[in-house]
Amino acid sequence: MPALGGPLGQLAGWIEAARGAGEAEPDAMTLATTTRDGRPSGRIVLCRGVDERGIRFFTNYGSRKGRELQDNPHAALVFHWAGLGRQVRVEGTVSRLSPDESDAYFQARPRGHRLQAHASPQSQTISGLDVVERRMAEVTAQFEGHDVPRPEGWGGFLVAPTAIEFWTKGADRVHERLRYDRTPQAWTESRLAP
Ligand SMILES: Cc1cc2nc3c(=O)[nH]c(=O)nc-3n(C[C@H](O)[C@H](O)[C@H](O)COP(=O)(O)O)c2cc1C
Repeated sequence: MPALGGPLGQLAGWIEAARGAGEAEPDAMTLATTTRDGRPSGRIVLCRGVDERGIRFFTNYGSRKGRELQDNPHAALVFHWAGLGRQVRVEGTVSRLSPDESDAYFQARPRGHRLQAHASPQSQTISGLDVVERRMAEVTAQFEGHDVPRPEGWGGFLVAPTAIEFWTKGADRVHERLRYDRTPQAWTESRLAP
């Protein structure tokens, strides 16, 4: 497969540079979503791949973020690698990955993580963590000696970017900001004041 070019290639390169530099969470990104009436919320998720289509992450589709993305499939992502003095901002349109792609990623996860996806009703109110611990024990017994299948309500999302901005820390707050906007033909580049 040809090397990934353009801004998505640069993003993939920056994530690998962060990994190489020993950043604690090189794949961590803040994901911002909104309700139907435009109230935002943010949380960190892990980037699980960048390709020519966009950026992927995995979660519970019934979680708050999953429900908000159902209502409004537009999201923003922010990566920050403090040691490198770099930030990347992404805006884009979100869609679910295919069941096959979600299955492939799910099956590569450690067994305990797969069991947790069955046991935890992510984002729902619970009376105590013992609720999830009891459910963990139940699903552990249920799948004993069997593969743990992907729950239907758990899977991947793809953020297809419409804009990506690369920020590099400079002296005296003179930071470099390069923004790329996706047009039907190509990416256009603009330089922004810090
Ligand atoms: C470093 C880090 C990585 C995380 N990665 C994920 C992830 O990949 N997927 C996920 O669903 N939650 C992940 N979380 C938990 C989320 O931040 C959040 O608590 C959870 O997804 C529920 O969010 P929601 O209620 O807004 O849907 C991560 C948290 C941290 C601190």
